[in-house]
Amino acid sequence: MVEEDLGLERVNCRAKGASSGFKVAILGAAGGIGQPLAMLMKMNPLVSLLHLYDVVNAPGVTADISHMDTSAVVRGFLGQQQLEDALIGMDLVIIPAGVPRKPGMTRDDLFNINAGIVKTICEAIAKCCPKAIVNIISNPVNSTVPIAAEVFKKAGVFDPKRVLGVTMLDVVRANTFVAEIMGLDPREVDVPVVGGHAGVTILPLLSQVKPSCSFTQKEIDYLTDRIQNGGTEVVEAKAGAGSATLSMAYAAVKFADACLRALRGDAAVVHCAYVASEVTELPFFASKVRLGRNGVEEIYPLGPLNEYERAGLEKAKKELAGSIQKGVSFVRK
Ligand code: NAD
Ligand code: LMR
Repeated sequence: MVEEDLGLERVNCRAKGASSGFKVAILGAAGGIGQPLAMLMKMNPLVSLLHLYDVVNAPGVTADISHMDTSAVVRGFLGQQQLEDALIGMDLVIIPAGVPRKPGMTRDDLFNINAGIVKTICEAIAKCCPKAIVNIISNPVNSTVPIAAEVFKKAGVFDPKRVLGVTMLDVVRANTFVAEIMGLDPREVDVPVVGGHAGVTILPLLSQVKPSCSFTQKEIDYLTDRIQNGGTEVVEAKAGAGSATLSMAYAAVKFADACLRALRGDAAVVHCAYVASEVTELPFFASKVRLGRNGVEEIYPLGPLNEYERAGLEKAKKELAGSIQKGVSFVRK
């Protein structure tokens, strides 16, 4: 008992003293994405305090992760009555809470369950940490980001710089698939993927790949289709056991780490994300953004598109418009 008390006291001292790091909350931390994401964030030296929240199994995941000998202090929060405690003082909130797809489903089929989950979570963020950077992973991202924005607007705390839909997995996949067919190291490849995060709204700009590559039309068709359907490829391979979790946790950490480096003041932190945007006539769009101390500091234009990409953009915008409206109406209704 004495040892436990002593341990807790020391942990609390460490949490208070860790002023150089950031405070990060993961909501949905016991899930398929949440668990590896929690593990990887515990390994991130920029994190001083890690809050793990879920409606099930948060204490188990917290106990497990907390034994890792890295510096972040870990605390668990279980059930909606502890949601606000999980959020107070957070710099970055990552949301992978919600149900995943099964074969035959679209991401939009998740709307009925996940819209309410994201709305409730964002109401608590608006109350407890309205200045936090929010990374939204829960699908359908094309609608859950507008839902978050509407909730924050209603609460009078909306800052378009701080609400980011995570589309990093599309970029990660695109880099991998391009590297595979071009015989390159994926770490050296950078494919901008714009639009949104579902089917035809996922628009890889293969004309802007770095290092510069020239593809045949057959390669462009193959790559575009594979990148747009990468999520479905995993859903089908998992055959009812969920969707991408490990590659998503990797992508989420890559993006969260970029947000934290930007919060620290690092320069030139540029990634694709789905944000409130004026790059097109739509109110939300994914494109390259520069991250800084306040979140999204600059949104880059799409750059020159070829005819194939311009046609893809029109299709993407048509679908995105409906998904955005659906999210907005859900909160305004
Ligand atoms: P999962 O079912 O394994 O885990 C989800 C977790 O959320 C569970 O632990 C569950 O208890 C928790 N949860 C449910 N309701 C909650 C609530 N009200 N508050 C807090 N937590 C709650 O699912 P997963 O595989 O981790 O996927 C989670 C979400 O991420 C899904 O919507 C999925 O479609 C999405 N996803 C997005 C991307 C992307 O690129 N943005 C990639 C993969 C998955
Ligand atoms: C993905 O792209 O893997 C996620 O959006 C999950 C899914 O349902 O495909």
